[in-house]
Amino acid sequence: MTLLSVNNIQKTYQKAHKKAVSDVSFNVDSGDIVAFLGPNGAGKTTTLKMILNLVSPDEGTVVFDGKDVTHNNLFLLKNTGVLLEGSRNMYWALSPMENFVYWGGQRGLSKKEAEKRGETLLKQFGLLDKKYTSITRLSRGMQQVVGICCAMIAEPKLLILDEPTLGLDLNATQIMIKSLNMLSANGVGILVTTHQMEFAQEIANKILLINHGKLVFSNSIKDSLEKLNKQEIFEVHLTQELTASEKENILASCELTKKTDGVYRLGVKPQASLSQVLKLLSELPISSIQTVTRGLDEIFKYYTEKEK
Ligand SMILES: Nc1ncnc2c1ncn2[C@@H]1O[C@H](COP(=O)(O)OP(=O)(O)OP(=O)(O)O)[C@@H](O)[C@H]1O
Ligand SMILES: [Mg+2]
Repeated sequence: MTLLSVNNIQKTYQKAHKKAVSDVSFNVDSGDIVAFLGPNGAGKTTTLKMILNLVSPDEGTVVFDGKDVTHNNLFLLKNTGVLLEGSRNMYWALSPMENFVYWGGQRGLSKKEAEKRGETLLKQFGLLDKKYTSITRLSRGMQQVVGICCAMIAEPKLLILDEPTLGLDLNATQIMIKSLNMLSANGVGILVTTHQMEFAQEIANKILLINHGKLVFSNSIKDSLEKLNKQEIFEVHLTQELTASEKENILASCELTKKTDGVYRLGVKPQASLSQVLKLLSELPISSIQTVTRGLDEIFKYYTEKEK
């Protein structure tokens, strides 16, 4: 079921020469975890702010749960958990618990409910002993964790997280991944920006890639990676450089790229058979060999570097 539908939204900031966001459209279904990727300044935060109506779009519409919320965000906010850049979704003079009660209350939770859920969340992240410490006195990573807990406090239908991994250690990141997967399994739609490709690849089922304000790629992660890895790729480390005749032999069945001295990548051509290539490899002065699995970072590089 489509939870959020973003249709042709655009934004030019005052005094700017070019559009920060240009004609961006996408959907988030319930249960989706959508990774919203793009280089610095690509337009991710601006898009999220337009969805939340914190920045008013010049054009386009935002539909949440079947209702047009483009210029009226109350219905959306009641049902959405939000982590903004720099954990700006909290009162910093208050403690985590006070924030949970306040922000939970805004979304219809009683004080008791908010406290109970807040305790469960803090416990998951191992931060229960900080529940009455003001946010200003927490470490940067802890502030981020509490910001994430605040976004999750009222069991929203939609979760919007702007760079939640920022400042988190490995353990906190893993706990967050678990929580997000649980929410998604319960039908929550999640839209998350990140610069960490590994995190995106681990968690998301769809990716959106934005560059210079335009959506340049959008697909399911599984499909994208399957397509990307259709070609078998070997990375070989050689004890001596390839001779001209060895190169010629290889090029008959593989695409050949030199990475550094003595290190080559061989991409098996579609018409070549694997046994033919393996025989070829066995005749080379190889010190080590590995198969290469291409990841989301390659898609990112392809779509963001070619436009520069
Ligand atoms: N308040 C603002 N006033 C004017 N221009 C802005 C404002 N906020 C963002 N911009 C511009 O809009 C463009 C998109 O910025 P945005 O913050 O949406 O990028 P982003 O993709 O979130 O980048 P990052 O990964 O660095 O967070 C940039 O060119 C930026 O300079
Ligand atoms: Mg941003």
